[in-house]
Amino acid sequence: MEDNIKKINSKYFDEKTEEILLSLEKTRSDFWNLDRECANFLNTLIKINNSKNVLEIGTSNGYSGIWILKALKETKGKLTTIEFWEKRQSVARKNFALCASDVPCEPKIGSAVVVLEDILEEIKKNKREKFDFVFIDANKKEYIEYFRLIDKMLVDGGVILADNILSHYEKVKDYTENLFNNSNYQSQILELGTGMMLSRKIKEAH
Ligand SMILES: C[S@@+](CC[C@H](N)C(=O)[O-])C[C@H]1O[C@@H](n2cnc3c(N)ncnc32)[C@H](O)[C@@H]1O
Repeated sequence: MEDNIKKINSKYFDEKTEEILLSLEKTRSDFWNLDRECANFLNTLIKINNSKNVLEIGTSNGYSGIWILKALKETKGKLTTIEFWEKRQSVARKNFALCASDVPCEPKIGSAVVVLEDILEEIKKNKREKFDFVFIDANKKEYIEYFRLIDKMLVDGGVILADNILSHYEKVKDYTENLFNNSNYQSQILELGTGMMLSRKIKEAH
């Protein structure tokens, strides 16, 4: 596809948000953010699925989080987002406040596996609802560990989108193989950005 056709120039949000997104896009490689194409896909997917309770693993400075929050504004949902680097998440909080202060957001600091274990305990004690959409974008070697925990906190019909599937093929191989061999999930790898794996937890026996 011609680059100029593939490139997204459309503006979907208010001026302030577009300004912040544009400035974050300039430092993208320093913060390992999604590109605009993938972020737009993520935003659209949440809206198509009418997801209301989204979990993100890997907040960074909040670039993808802004796109998620903008989708959740439409679906009237909430974001929980995990990051172990405090400095990064404080930047993300500021960006969220500037772009989507009207959407509920719970930023969590800590190592993803530990935070996920805590969240699972809360779900088991009925202190928190299960998620209907999870975006995985943190430590590639830990994807499989994230999945084992996420599986217990995802509603039937829930969606998992995982990034860097093709760029970090070897590191995430146990994750992709597990999902493809898992009869409870229907999965597809998309050649989008650095490669994304889209998985849906199957609702009914097939
Ligand atoms: C690829 S970046 C996330 C980019 C973000 N999703 C975006 O597109 O704007 C990955 C982030 O995950 C964080 N991270 C890596 N390993 C982690 C772990 N085990 N627990 C929590 N956060 C982690 C890193 O500090 C980094 O900020």
